[in-house]
Amino acid sequence: MKLSNDSGEGLENSKNFQKIYLDNSATTMVDKEVAKAMQPYFTKIYGNASSLHQFGQEAKRALEQSREIIAKSINADPKEIIFTSGGTESDNLAIKGIAYANKEKGNHIITTKIEHHAVEHTCKSLEKEGFKITYLDVDKEGFINPDQLKKEITDKTILVTIIHGNNEIGAIQDIEPIGTICKEHNIPLHIDAVQSFTKTEIDVKKQNITLSSFSAHKLHGPKGIGALYIKKGTKLNKLIEGGAHEFNLRPGTENIPGIVGFAKAVEIAKQEDCKKIAELRDYFIEKVLKEIPETKLNGPTKDRLCNNINITFKFIEGEALLIKLDDKGIAVSTGSACSSKDLRPSHVLTAIGLHPAVAHGSIRFTLSKYTTKEELDYTLTHLKKAVKELRELSPLWGQSEEELTKAAYEDDHEHEGE
Ligand SMILES: Cc1ncc(COP(=O)(O)O)c(C=O)c1O
Repeated sequence: MKLSNDSGEGLENSKNFQKIYLDNSATTMVDKEVAKAMQPYFTKIYGNASSLHQFGQEAKRALEQSREIIAKSINADPKEIIFTSGGTESDNLAIKGIAYANKEKGNHIITTKIEHHAVEHTCKSLEKEGFKITYLDVDKEGFINPDQLKKEITDKTILVTIIHGNNEIGAIQDIEPIGTICKEHNIPLHIDAVQSFTKTEIDVKKQNITLSSFSAHKLHGPKGIGALYIKKGTKLNKLIEGGAHEFNLRPGTENIPGIVGFAKAVEIAKQEDCKKIAELRDYFIEKVLKEIPETKLNGPTKDRLCNNINITFKFIEGEALLIKLDDKGIAVSTGSACSSKDLRPSHVLTAIGLHPAVAHGSIRFTLSKYTTKEELDYTLTHLKKAVKELRELSPLWGQSEEELTKAAYEDDHEHEGE
């Protein structure tokens, strides 16, 4: 497909046109080293890891080596790692698996108000089945209060599930004290570490983690592969029926190319990369807040995912800004709408106290090891222009938060029943 800009000129031929990807929390580019490591497992070592012949046994060796790499990176035993199709499946297996296996013991689960849909919707579906869910509050930066967690625990609590690194606002919860509380009450702790894995330390022993979800495509690995750490001795039901793969917890022929790619991505992830990304993140945040009026950083300044920036541009619809930036080849995300049909503001932004109408003007920029300062400067230039243009057109410009909320409320009612 040939892309074209306003004047009809082929964008790929335009010297000034750049494509800048700032949506690395949605997914990342597969690292070339990862793709290279995967290649033989498509065309040469393509056996089924359950087969007894050499093709199968070679695949099995790759499977177990990959398991070791991932286990080692979180201080776990290889037998505690189950491969899945990604973060969503890992979250479902952890939460439903624990809920169904411990039904006799209790029906209460504690989570937070800022979970990814993979956890939030899993909890909501358990609610319909009769489980009771407590949603912990977060403060203005997105952190839970361990004292509230302590207070909410009852003798019916069978699981605590907490997002580690938040996908929208980047808040990294301090897991160790949460793990200690869970251990004291003998309750399993599941963390959704899909965004935080390889960006901040995860030590399942030190942090008293019982289950942890991971996904390869967030860290320059391939899509469709993830893992769940399950502490030895944890009572958990499998969710689908089939063979005895993955220690009889996740049936189905293992995705060996994906698994090998996942392990390679973990192996090559470097803390120095994260440090460099964090410097660029802070540079961009400072520039935007200083050079564009009526802007606000969402999420914390400390204990923040190294690649996450979430900024509210008051008096603007995030989607309009996204489209304007996309026109310049800059890919960002709004996070303010769950889908094009769902105009409700993000539950995460409202949980940290943003007015629903103001939350609509929020943009998430997520960086990667491939992001450069030049790309951020180019983005800043176009961001400034786009914000100015949109504000000049906006009937919302200069209104108070109350007026903005009222306008958004009326707008929502116009769309009711669509
Ligand atoms: C925090 C979090 N959990 C779970 C998921 C789902 O992961 P996957 O896309 O691998 O299913 C995502 C993906 O965006 C996420 O950000």
